Amino acid sequence: MNAEGLVEVVLPGTVEPEGLLIRRGAVPVAGPGQVVIRMEATGVSFAEQQMRRGRYYDQPPFPFVPGYDLVGTVQATGEGVDPALTGSRVAALVKVGGWASHVVVEAADTVAVPDGIGAAEAETLVVNGITAWQMLHRRARIRAGQTVLVHGANGGVGSVLVQLALAAGVQVIGTASARHHDSLRAQGVTPVDYRTEDVAARVRELAPGGVDAVFDHVGGRSVIDSWRLLAPGGTLVSYGSASTRDDSGSKQLPVLKILARVWVWNTLPNGRRAYFFNIWAGRAFAKDRFRARLRADLTQVFAAHRRGEVTAGIAAQLPLARASEALRLAESGTVAGKIVLTP
Ligand SMILES: NC(=O)c1ccc[n+]([C@@H]2O[C@H](COP(=O)([O-])OP(=O)(O)OC[C@H]3O[C@@H](n4cnc5c(N)ncnc54)[C@H](OP(=O)(O)O)[C@@H]3O)[C@@H](O)[C@H]2O)c1
Repeated sequence: MNAEGLVEVVLPGTVEPEGLLIRRGAVPVAGPGQVVIRMEATGVSFAEQQMRRGRYYDQPPFPFVPGYDLVGTVQATGEGVDPALTGSRVAALVKVGGWASHVVVEAADTVAVPDGIGAAEAETLVVNGITAWQMLHRRARIRAGQTVLVHGANGGVGSVLVQLALAAGVQVIGTASARHHDSLRAQGVTPVDYRTEDVAARVRELAPGGVDAVFDHVGGRSVIDSWRLLAPGGTLVSYGSASTRDDSGSKQLPVLKILARVWVWNTLPNGRRAYFFNIWAGRAFAKDRFRARLRADLTQVFAAHRRGEVTAGIAAQLPLARASEALRLAESGTVAGKIVLTP
């Protein structure tokens, strides 16, 4: 990478991973209240798989720079920002724009990364860690001794969710393809193969009284089964619609259907709760509260990592210039852990 210039990856439209473009330009300047982060690590998330198909429910119009989150060093500060921030390592959640050598963000949106964790390791815990922590502790409010079902237990969010749940003394049933079962069992998770087994029937065998929480990113039919698997007092946290990634038609409809179901379920007097979790909820109308929670929760995840309760699973590290390969690899479903892009 040219140390003086900006390098960024552009998603020009609905394309195969090989259609991503590399663009070079001038390093951006921090405006008032902003910082320029020199990226050290940015991640490939499921969101980019949906965005390149035009299937992410609120993606910006093409072309744009994808990249949900990043970790890097503050290179410059804008007016009104403490210059002492320069040189510190921070994390940021951006939804788009992370796949670039330099990224401008509001200083208030950055979270300090503690010493003792590398940039790539920290990167694997930003969107995945915040999502997992908030769903477990702010939505389901899990307690020791409970049993939960985690769909996609080997995935980016799922693997952090599993580890945080186990650390909280919770029993975990996890769905995953068979190739991930040995490592799940080694962690203490009871695996279920969502490709070959009847997930609902198997979970009923394992937890006849129902489970205390289900974390469902699959959507579609799965979310209905997930709701029915809840024990009295249980909580469904739906947070995605992975099963409709390759559908055509409205990209909002699958999520709107889930929201409608959640609304109906919560109006029924049945002693269970359903949520559709959205990591961005509250940002538009309560920005300070949103930022405070995000900072507090990511700091908790980093602390769990320091205690050895959560390990950062890095599947591969590739430079930005190989973003196409990285996305192709993520979509192959053959890797365990997060694919990290570096400058
Ligand atoms: N609502 C929010 O705020 C929020 C925030 C972050 C992420 N998300 C959502 O979370 C989901 C996971 O993201 P990620 O980055 O962790 O993805 P990821 O690392 O690619 O993991 C996806 C996981 O889903 C599993 N999977 C795929 N299709 C499935 C199906 N039909 N049934 C059960 N499991 C299935 C995969 O299992 P195999 O490897 O075995 O195929 C894998 O474990 C995405 O839908 C994303 O949009 C939502």
